[in-house]
This record gives sequence, C-alpha cells and structure tokens, in this order.
Amino acid sequence: MPHTNAKDHIDAMLHETRVIEPSAAFKATAKVSRADYERLYRQSLDDPDQFWGDVAAELHWFKPWDTVLDWQEPHAKWFVGAQTNVAYNALDRQVERGLGDKKAFIWEGEDGEVRTYTYAELLREVCKAANALEGLGVQAGDRVTLYMPLIPEAAIAMLACARIGAAHSVVFGGFSVSALTDRINDAQSKILITADAGYRRGQPVNLKANADEAAKNTPNLEKILVVRRAGTPVEWQEGRDVWWHDAVGSASEQHQAAALDSEQPLFVLYTSGSTGKPKGVLHTTGGYMVGTYLTTKTVFDLQDDDIYWCTADVGWVTGHSYSVYGPLLNGATVVLYEGAPNQPDWGRFWDIIQKHRVTILYTAPTAIRSFMRQGDDIPAKYDLSSLRLLGSVGEPINPEAWMWYYRTIGGERCPIVDTWWQTETGSIMLTTLPGAFPSKPGSAGLPMFGVEPTLMTHEGDELGPDDGGLLVIKRPWPSMLRTVYGDDERYRKSYWGEIKGVYFAGDGARRDADGYYTIVGRVDDVLNVSGHRLGTMEIESALVGHSSVAEAAVVGKPDEVKGECVVAFITPQLGHTVDAKELRAHVSREIGALARPDAIYITDAMPKTRSGKIMRRFLRQIAAGHDIQGDTSTLEDPSVLERLKATQAV
Ligand code: PRX
Repeated sequence: MPHTNAKDHIDAMLHETRVIEPSAAFKATAKVSRADYERLYRQSLDDPDQFWGDVAAELHWFKPWDTVLDWQEPHAKWFVGAQTNVAYNALDRQVERGLGDKKAFIWEGEDGEVRTYTYAELLREVCKAANALEGLGVQAGDRVTLYMPLIPEAAIAMLACARIGAAHSVVFGGFSVSALTDRINDAQSKILITADAGYRRGQPVNLKANADEAAKNTPNLEKILVVRRAGTPVEWQEGRDVWWHDAVGSASEQHQAAALDSEQPLFVLYTSGSTGKPKGVLHTTGGYMVGTYLTTKTVFDLQDDDIYWCTADVGWVTGHSYSVYGPLLNGATVVLYEGAPNQPDWGRFWDIIQKHRVTILYTAPTAIRSFMRQGDDIPAKYDLSSLRLLGSVGEPINPEAWMWYYRTIGGERCPIVDTWWQTETGSIMLTTLPGAFPSKPGSAGLPMFGVEPTLMTHEGDELGPDDGGLLVIKRPWPSMLRTVYGDDERYRKSYWGEIKGVYFAGDGARRDADGYYTIVGRVDDVLNVSGHRLGTMEIESALVGHSSVAEAAVVGKPDEVKGECVVAFITPQLGHTVDAKELRAHVSREIGALARPDAIYITDAMPKTRSGKIMRRFLRQIAAGHDIQGDTSTLEDPSVLERLKATQAV
C-alpha cells in the first residue's frame, strides 16, 4: 500500500470527520447545484454521447463530429471526424461574442512589472506569433519545444502552436540542460522557443545559455526563437537564433486558425513514471478542449466578473489546463505571476490578490504549508475580501493545512475545491463542486462528469468503501492522454495494462460512505516533491552516472512543507570518496534543482535480498527515522540495516 506519506499524516486524513458546507450565499449563485450534478452525472454515464455532445456544442467546430467516441481499448478517439481549433475557441470565439475588450491576462512579473492583454489584444499577438512560426517553417503536425519563464509570450506561443496545429512541448524552466536535450530529441522538435532569462528569487536564470548547450546535442533543432525578457547578454548564432520581437514584431496580425482534426496532437508534456526516462504524455485537440472547458466552468464556478488566478507554471499540466486553456475557453480573466511566492517576501501572493482583486485562487498544498509556517500576521496585513473560492492541486492536502487555508485565507467564507487529477488525465477527475457539495478536509471528493472511478486490488477485484485500494477509472474520458509519444507500448503497459480493462492511475485511495475519495499517495516509485512528480529511477540513474558512485537507491521521506523529499543511499566506487555537495550539484545538472537529494546516506552496503534486489521498503523506514518493521529474514545480510541506522545522513 501507499508508502509515500507519513503514517500520522495518512491517519490524520482518514480520521478527519469535519464536513464544511458551502454558504447559502455561495450556493445561491452557483453554476451547478447538487440536483444538477446528480442528474448530469447520471446522464454522463448512462448516455455519454448525449452528455458530451451537448457540452461540445457550446464550443465552435468547423465541422461537426460523426461519432462522439470511438473506443478500441486502450485507444480512444473523441468527436471523430470533427474539425476544430482550440486557439480559435479560446480567442476568436470570445471576441466574436463581444468579449474583445475584456481582460484575458493580467500578468505580473517578479520585478513588479504588470502587463494586461484584452481578448482582442491576445488574439492579435497569437495571430502574429502563428504567422512568425509559419514563417520559420513550422507546419501542422510538427513539435515545438518551449523553455520559458512564466511570461505572456509562453502562453502566446502555446496558443500560436495550437492555432497552426503544431504540438507544443513545454519544458519547465527549472529543468537542466540535459533534461531539455532529452525532451527536444524525444519530441524531434525543429524549433525551440526560449527567453534570454527569467527571474527566480530576484536572480536571472539564463535560459538561453542552457538552450545553447542543449542545441549542441539536438541534431534536429533548426531555429531558436528568443524572447527578450531580462535584457541579460546572450550568445547569438546567426542563422539559427531569431529574436521574438523581430519575427513576431514584424508579422501580420491576420491569421486564419487551421481547421484541425479533433484528434490532431495539441501537446506533449513530459512527466515521470516509475521506470525509465520521463514519458511524453500526448494530448489531442477536441477531447482535451471539451474536458478543460467543462471542468474549469463547473469546478471553479466561473462567473463573468471573476478574476481567476492559478499559480502553476506553464511547465506543468496545471499551467496548461488551468492557467491557459480552460479559463480562456471560458472567457475568464486570468492572473499570471512569473516568480516565487516569497519574493520580495512571503506576502507576495496576498499582495497580488489585493492588488488585482482576485476572486478565485488555485494553488498547491506545498505553497499553503509554506505560508502557514510564516504565520497568520502576514496574510492579515492584506485585504483578501475579494476571494470567493479556493482550490488545491498536486498532492494530498493535510487537514491542518486545509483548515488554515479555509480560515486564514478564505475567511471561512470560501469553499475549497481539492482537485485530484494528473498530467495524463488532462483535466480534473475528482473534486466536490463548490456550490453542490460540502467539503471534507483532506478528501478530494466525488467524480467529475463522465468519470467512473473505483478502487481495486492489483488483481482487478473491486473493493467496497473503507477498503484502501488502487484508484482506477473504468471508462475513457475526453481529455485523457492518447498515448506516450513515440512509445505506444509503454502507454498500453503503464495505463490500461496494469489492471485489465481499466485505467490505472498509480495512486492509492479510500472511499467513504458518501462516495468521497481520499487520495493517500502514489503506490509506485514516483515521488511527489512540492507537488512535482519525480521518478526514483530517474534520480538513481543520474546518481550512478557520477564517477564516485557505484550504486544508488532513492526513496521519499515525508516532509512537513514539501510533502515528500528526496533521500539517496549511495555506495561509493572502490577507491572513491563521495562528495555530497558535488553529488547534489550533479543531480541538478542532470535533471534540475527540484530533484536534488535532501539527505544522502553513504554506506558500504545496501539491504539486499539473496537475489540482489535492494529492499527499498527498509530504506524508507531508515530515511523516516522509524524502527525497522517487517520481515528481514530474506535479506542476505540483515546486519546492514543496523549499520545503516547508525549512519548519519549528509
Ligand atoms: O499522486 C497524485 C498527485 O499528483 C499526481 C499527478 O501528478 P502530475 O501528473 O504532476 O499532476 C499534478 C497536477 C494535476 C497524482 O497521481 N495529486 C494530484 N492532485 C492531487 C494529488 N494527490 C492528492 N490530492 C490531490 N488533489
């Protein structure tokens, strides 16, 4: 069963009995009532063609579909035969229905600069960028890699790709040269879009320098389009490098959105799995559009005058679905913030909320726990009365952090939607619709429309309430991933092959008598560090790539703020000494700073079975400072455990 959370933490979630009702005022204007949910949810399962057809009909299609769903397990096609365009729906459609002067983006840089774009302005910028990309030779079906700070141009570039039918592959700006290189090569991108530098905690992060390094080992890459963000000096390769302000600045404002097949790839987004290198999760056009449109509208109860802020970076799926596509498809006003939550101090989020009168805040438990640690007097200095709804995403939220968020940030007035979903699911799968159901702190809640979850054993037996089990989804949904880019076999095996006939999410969960699901954490070798997914194998292979390391095993350890942190056990190469500082720097270079081990145990031997398998279960206990529990008799040398327990981590 799940190992990733501390036992106390799980106990706290499972024994939580508080039920928090939405206020009468919230319910009165809510988009979806409990009765609506019950009726529509039933219809979404009983007559999915009708349900999804009705939702899709709220959007624009150049050509209607012949069939809503073509399901040949494990491959789904949604809105088969239809043609549409996500960028057209996000922008042109909004301008056509009179929202041209409404603010689409309010962007704030870490340095305090503010830029706003109306829907009409954003459409113009996206048209120019689409023309510029076409001018650089990008065609429908190509992949374009983005390695950018959270600046408006990142969203503009994504939408421009969507407009011409090229799939974007956004690589988080905190990833290393080596991670960027692998992702460009895997996607076979010919074009990379980056910036000179982005800001993080007041320091410029030189993205262009990393892009230059990556370009040395990416033979397919032809052009690098560079946004000038920080004004830092950059190296320039004539013929290859192009300034955004030149190419986009001089491009025409007229561009006709391509009529794309519903299954045209929209984006690839790399995420960690339990084995091997990160997987390129592939999402396509029609189904992803319908899924993010519907969930944004209902889960965030979007009203015309909302100011909506999702704090995720566009490098993650939350930034794709809920900072860009979902809210723009709904014509919302979206706040984007480039920087760190503690820059210049821990009041920054509250300052942004006060300044822009944010009404909906969607953020991660790790951020909430960091704020909580800084004390209540910081948020108390700001006017947070504009807020009406709060959201949480990315990892389990412990009831204590939930209550703090509810009281201190939401003033006990704002419902909290705890949304469970994944890069692979494309949109929110479990939550409590805010005006329809009460929340239970720590529990994600009920299935979204069309989502049919259950709990199973590894053998595929369904479990009843209160039995912890594996969370699975029993039927396809529109925004689900279509494949792993370039590796359909891995797609079949990882998602629909683990347990026959169902989608296996990789999480363990429980369900209570009201049908609420509580996620307890990953059941595979995937860590969740500050809401970011990391594969233990990825970190291990980075570690053994260092000349001083013979063998490495990586496990997660519960962490009060990050949820989980990375702990590495290392045996040195004969005749080498391990320098922990150097090893951490090495992991940063190989993957990114987010994968750097918090603790490193240097040991002469690992606890192994007689067949040589490292027993990570014991390493997790040691990392957590727990007593050794479980059968140690299968170990080749049980004394290794005693020696390890006596070892100080560095
Ligand atoms: O373990 C679950 C956790 O994050 C994983 C998905 O990570 P990623 O693909 O990076 O997407 C994160 C943002 C959607 C899941 O398998 N997770 C995500 N949301 C929650 C969660 N765990 C508990 N509660 C959540 N609300």
